[in-house]
Amino acid sequence: MTDSASAAPRVTVVGMDGRRLSDDSRWALGECRIIAGAARHLDAVADLVAPGAELLTLGGLAPALDRIAAATAPAAVLASGDPGFFGIVRALRERGLDPDVHPAVSSVAAAFARVGLPWDDAVVLSAHGRAASGRSVRRALAAALAHPKAAVLTAPGTAGPEAFVGPLLRAGRTVHVAQRLAAPDESVVEAGPADADRTDWAHPNVVLAVDPDRAVAPAMAWMPGHQGAPDGWALPEDAFEHRASMVTKPEVRAFALARLAPRPGTVVWDVGACSGSVAVECARFGAHAIAFEQNAEDCARIRANALAHGVHVDVREGRLPEAFPEPDTPGATGITGTTGAGGALAPDAVFLGGGDDRVAAEAVHRFRPERVVVALASVDRVAGVHALLTGAGYRVEGTQLQASRLAPLPNGSLRLAAANPVTLVCGTAAPGGT
Ligand SMILES: C[S@@+](CC[C@H](N)C(=O)[O-])C[C@H]1O[C@@H](n2cnc3c(N)ncnc32)[C@H](O)[C@@H]1O
Repeated sequence: MTDSASAAPRVTVVGMDGRRLSDDSRWALGECRIIAGAARHLDAVADLVAPGAELLTLGGLAPALDRIAAATAPAAVLASGDPGFFGIVRALRERGLDPDVHPAVSSVAAAFARVGLPWDDAVVLSAHGRAASGRSVRRALAAALAHPKAAVLTAPGTAGPEAFVGPLLRAGRTVHVAQRLAAPDESVVEAGPADADRTDWAHPNVVLAVDPDRAVAPAMAWMPGHQGAPDGWALPEDAFEHRASMVTKPEVRAFALARLAPRPGTVVWDVGACSGSVAVECARFGAHAIAFEQNAEDCARIRANALAHGVHVDVREGRLPEAFPEPDTPGATGITGTTGAGGALAPDAVFLGGGDDRVAAEAVHRFRPERVVVALASVDRVAGVHALLTGAGYRVEGTQLQASRLAPLPNGSLRLAAANPVTLVCGTAAPGGT
């Protein structure tokens, strides 16, 4: 490090978690000529700051970072928890700075500690930060609903606990809101039904959502969060309970899954779900899956199939298209999305394995998902569905899939056993929307 005006300043980032700072952090702060941080953090170090040091209250982040990047004397940034975890270190790096980081306990670690749970098997989601928007809230909620253990970093306003607590409680999760951790008025509460619509949460806070049946995973997780792709997909028919072979065949399901692109943070609707094999497989990839099915016995089977595969599927019983939820606000669905569709989350992708042309048209026009896959046994419907998707502005492809599986003959040789052909008509939103 040199003192030349062009050299990057020495920047120390000090994490704050309410405990006494280390001697190293105290010494570094005493050396700094510029210290930036939230007002509460600046107050907490007032007795460590050298006389004449410039104090920058972080409101607008960019001007403070510009000031620090232009500094010629040592500077410090005070930040909550571990500044390398959803924190200021990224922004400093983006400005070409090479900070010396003194981490404290992250709010996520502290929140799980307060409720006495391990969190190496949790997925950590941020609805906070530069990208905070309706879409980032919906994405965080979808991932929290799909995963048995989640922590959500929130932000005041539309990304606060009010966006998460109600839906997570309704999905059967145990929900804690850890407010103002390490502050004198810290409060960690388990949310009850009366809290579903509460809006007066104290910030900052972290929302924890845990499936009570899977609060402690049997084996220590080896990789936090969702594990990526499941250990197999396009599972055989007999991996699902089904009625009279009414199950999407694995060869067809494989192609459909590829086009639906299920993953954490996405919402997939399985419409006319029957056995729910597509919903279950999407949930295994980390998507939040919602299955629409009119037959009560099939709904029970979908729940059983989800349970057997250790995933959560939101099953909606009712006759379509009437049973589709109302979009909350015009234009607030799907790819443009904010919260979603009247209590269900608006879909990123829709699989239509059942239902007629009216159901397909309603799903496409009302919810405008980014991806649509329609499975058709009837050739008569192919042109109409193709026209529906093309007319709605999708890039459309159609493929007839006809698999023949090897099967033994009595004499020990092999034959090809043909399955019924199915046509998949797939639509993908053109860039810029449908
Ligand atoms: C930009 S992130 C910073 C996370 C931080 N680096 C950490 O490790 O805790 C800000 C979010 O962290 C959470 N958070 C930070 N400090 C907190 C506190 N004292 N109590 C509860 N949540 C806190 C809130 O969700 C807040 O919106």
